[in-house]
Amino acid sequence: MKQFFSVADVVDLSEIVDEALRLKQAPFAYEQLGKRKTLGLVFLNPSLRTRLSTQKAAMQLGMDVMVMNMDKDGWALETRDGVAMDGATVEHIREAAAVMGQYCDVLGIRSFPKLIDRDADYSEDLFRKFSSYCGVPVISLESATRHPLQSFADLITIHEHWRKPSIPKVVLAWAPHVKALPQAVPNSFSEWMCRAQAAGMVDFTIAHPEGYALSEVFTQGAAVVNSLDEALIGADFVYVKNWSSYDDYGQILPVREQWMLDNRKLAITNNAKVMHCLPVRRDLELASEVLDGPQSLVIPEAGNRVWAAQAVLKRMLGEN
Ligand code: CP
Repeated sequence: MKQFFSVADVVDLSEIVDEALRLKQAPFAYEQLGKRKTLGLVFLNPSLRTRLSTQKAAMQLGMDVMVMNMDKDGWALETRDGVAMDGATVEHIREAAAVMGQYCDVLGIRSFPKLIDRDADYSEDLFRKFSSYCGVPVISLESATRHPLQSFADLITIHEHWRKPSIPKVVLAWAPHVKALPQAVPNSFSEWMCRAQAAGMVDFTIAHPEGYALSEVFTQGAAVVNSLDEALIGADFVYVKNWSSYDDYGQILPVREQWMLDNRKLAITNNAKVMHCLPVRRDLELASEVLDGPQSLVIPEAGNRVWAAQAVLKRMLGEN
């Protein structure tokens, strides 16, 4: 594997999930694989889970890890070509990425969208340039439009917690928020669930208020409804997440109905497990009674970030 940017970079979805779960059973089985190899993690935005889980995964494979907080410690990056750098930017991504590739065998990069210009964000310009100039395999640690390590961990979590012969109903449920958030997590979750649905692993529905439709690039194959209560009927897993509007790009639109999942709404489901990528704003996005309740999977879900990262790194180090 030379790149981990989207579900399209995974040839065998069910096999990589099984591989991650095998690593969970034997974390140090490949501790020699990454010996004398270096993983570089480059952050242009904050992170708790992605930073620590990917470091832990790399260390369990014997790798050394270097972390660069570009937003705080690095030179201001220029990504445009053909411009005289006479403003605030100090270093071009062409040199910055190429230099990091000299120091690292694998690189990961996190860069959020600006949520101003949809075409610019959805072109994934920064990730693509970084990947092309660094000359080593690259893992997305969340880009403008996708968060594949999160979605992979989410699929692992669903697979791990579903032990019935039937196919689980999985609902991606929009939730309220006071800030405009990217579509990266729901895009990615939808993309992975649509692929899992095609493989007969899940039955996938998206629930969001009017005006919050995701790009069809990510939702092909999913059922979409504009009523949370309707979507929750028969749900086995509810994946709660806010996102800002894609059509009215980056905007928070007025929503009259109650969209926060609480115990009253959870009772509509088929005793569903509840997931969220975290961080979560309690009693705004998701009720505390649900987060602290017996149906919440948010902590084991975050724990599974390690095994997702470790399976991807193992493949990048050349061990399928
Ligand atoms: N879910 C997730 O990616 O968490 P962080 O932003 O803390 O890495």
